[in-house]
Amino acid sequence: MALRKAASLCFFFSLVFLVCVHGHPNYRDALTKSLLFFEGQRSGRLPSSQRMKWRSNSALSDGSAAQVDLSGGYYDAGDNVKFNFPMAFTTTMLSWGALEYARPMGSELANARAAIRWATDYLLKCATATPGKLYVGVGDPNADHKCWERPEDMDTVRTVYSVSQSNPGSDVAGETAAALAAASLVFRKVDPVYSKRLLSTAKKVMQFAMNYRGAYSDSLGSAVCPFYCSYSGYKDELLWGASWLLRATNDVTYFNFLKSLGADDSTDIFSWDNKFAGARVLLSRRALLSKDMSYDRFRQQAEDFMCRILPNSPSSSTTYTPGGMMFKLGSSNLQYVTSISFLLNTYAKYMSSSSHTFNCGSTLVKSSSLRSLAKRQVDYILGANPLNMSYMVSYGAKFPKRIHHRGSSLPSLAVHPLSIGCDGGFQPYYYSQNPNPNSLTGAVVGGPNQNDAYTDDRTDYSHSEPATYINGALVGPLASFAGSYNK
Ligand SMILES: *[C@@H]1O[C@H](CO)[C@@H](O)[C@H](O)[C@H]1NC(C)=O
Repeated sequence: MALRKAASLCFFFSLVFLVCVHGHPNYRDALTKSLLFFEGQRSGRLPSSQRMKWRSNSALSDGSAAQVDLSGGYYDAGDNVKFNFPMAFTTTMLSWGALEYARPMGSELANARAAIRWATDYLLKCATATPGKLYVGVGDPNADHKCWERPEDMDTVRTVYSVSQSNPGSDVAGETAAALAAASLVFRKVDPVYSKRLLSTAKKVMQFAMNYRGAYSDSLGSAVCPFYCSYSGYKDELLWGASWLLRATNDVTYFNFLKSLGADDSTDIFSWDNKFAGARVLLSRRALLSKDMSYDRFRQQAEDFMCRILPNSPSSSTTYTPGGMMFKLGSSNLQYVTSISFLLNTYAKYMSSSSHTFNCGSTLVKSSSLRSLAKRQVDYILGANPLNMSYMVSYGAKFPKRIHHRGSSLPSLAVHPLSIGCDGGFQPYYYSQNPNPNSLTGAVVGGPNQNDAYTDDRTDYSHSEPATYINGALVGPLASFAGSYNK
């Protein structure tokens, strides 16, 4: 039973605004819901254990365009496309969360593993179905985005996309390798056979990423751009993939490789596109916990990143809204908030385990400095904000009702058995002012604007669309705070 403090806690944040929080949010409830969300995004044949009941089987013949079985995996966001680049990033972040926060996750750990496995079963097929090819997505995004239909009715062209030696994609391959390697650690004790399969596939995919260099955007063009163009290039995914392979194998080859990359770009972001900061935090674990000085350069780079994020740091390049939300970019800003909060909280964990502190100029940074900023961001998402509104569907008293999500905004098959075609969903449902009929419980939307305002408008996808990678990075911090505050 969660012990909830009744007293209001008020504190100054960044010495600019006063923030009042009435007790702590119910992180455990939010954790449960954040994982339930992934069931709403499932593609393929749903198992009997499916809890989100308004969804049904869909896209069972994905892959048939290439005579392979690529059913399964996740729909990316409010659409019905399977984009492997962000899907793999989501999987890596879910896995990292399950590794770092396995204990506070408690009974939700089984649901976290199920969420990871739904992605890795699909990613394994993508990596092994055809020798010499890595499949990287299913569904023509341009055709899909012209329709407003349920995944269960989908009749758009399910084009299959792949990379190969002659059409490389070191970015998508590096991220896929990272996801498989991270997941292999999650399953190491509970399913050693599956774990070995994940790791041996991860090694092969990483070798392909390293040997055949190139950006998948150059190979696939309008099939992935502007949707998930690899804007930051592929060096960050080579670093990230090698870092996860190193953690999973302890093979020095990966360390030599990542040192030789010269991936020293300074950064103040972390996302499905840019993973430099994530790799540095992951590598810092060895500098801090094992005191291995050969990783010290990555520790310094991780701390440079933290100094660009912290509001009271002299080198901060991060904006905060008047209500205290980290503000990076106007479209789907909460994805940056959840991803960066994961890094803040996880670096704080490593610092705390090693009694480490550092400085941003003359400002001393303790593990509690990073952790309280991460907590403040998570609390904001869960309702500690000027609108007193939770940005997670079905969490708290007030939350988004008109999210930009096809399945959630259209009646379920049970309610409306007749098919709703490509154009059939727009007038009656997409443009309707009514709340969505199906609760995509746990979905976190793109979130408020730079003035903490939110209009709850289905057509405003920059703010009202959920995405797998927003939730993927939030699960770890929610588990961490549930363990500390909802015992
Ligand atoms: C939010 O809650 C606070 C404290 O209960 C209240 O003073 C404020 O008016 C509320 N704001 C809105 C927009 O509902």
